[in-house]
Amino acid sequence: MTERTFIAIKPDGVKRNLIGRIISEFEEKGYKIIGLKLLIPTLEHAEKHYAEHKGKPFYPRLIKYITSGPIVAMVIEGKNVIAESRKMMGSTKPEEAEAGTIRFKYAINMEYNIIHGSDSKESAEREIAIYFKEEELCTNWSTMLEMIMNAE
Ligand code: RTP
Ligand code: MG
Repeated sequence: MTERTFIAIKPDGVKRNLIGRIISEFEEKGYKIIGLKLLIPTLEHAEKHYAEHKGKPFYPRLIKYITSGPIVAMVIEGKNVIAESRKMMGSTKPEEAEAGTIRFKYAINMEYNIIHGSDSKESAEREIAIYFKEEELCTNWSTMLEMIMNAE
């Protein structure tokens, strides 16, 4: 089933110049990027994004971390992309992440773990709406390109 998910390269990933390498992993898998922006999350973005963790001991540090610098916010489309992208990311704790996963390769620890990905269809829809307006998403672009190429 074709799905959309929200992926973010967190401030540590951007700071460590990992943007290109992480985006390549999704492109190489054949997923389509339909939304992409670099932004410094506001407190409002961060509190909405991580509302499920409000009240937990790590919550204040999580908010501080995610608002500490630019993130790359992305909407990625593809078959089973929600579950597949979570697999590609690996476990929250990098020491438990499977070899070859993004967190295994790049994350420092459970707190600074490079990447975020939605964990369900509901979270994906909710998180996409926090960072993107529907009109900012480039849907159907392969079809548009095919039309132009065929018209020439
Ligand atoms: P994410 O939401 O960022 O994709 O990560 P996740 O689903 O793998 O993990 P989640 O349980 O949702 O935790 C969200 C983020 O909070 C930070 N965290 N710190 N110090 C701690 O005990 C702790 N636990 C979680 C991590 O940045 C984690 O990705
Ligand atoms: Mg999560």
